[in-house]
Amino acid sequence: MIKITISINQAALHLTAKPEQSVLEVLLEHGIPIRQACTNGVCGICITPLLEGQISYGQRQARGLNAKELQAGYFLPCIAHCESDIHIGKPKVALR
Ligand code: FES
Repeated sequence: MIKITISINQAALHLTAKPEQSVLEVLLEHGIPIRQACTNGVCGICITPLLEGQISYGQRQARGLNAKELQAGYFLPCIAHCESDIHIGKPKVALR
């Protein structure tokens, strides 16, 4: 099992992920509020900061991220799988 730590509002939650699950699936399974739309790496609405650890998009491309967001360490949980334990921040776009 892989561990995902998510820091939201100064609290850290520890989640476990199966290797075949996308990070978005894990967050939703644990009731973490995150916006989603395309679930295909295109719209960018699930954008979230990756603070530590490695993720992989496999054959897919994170088209929903611009160069500035990539450089700032953001990733797209809807198409990302964990390559190691990861630590992430609060999803950038709040649920309405
Ligand atoms: S839901 Fe569209 S990029 Fe993640």
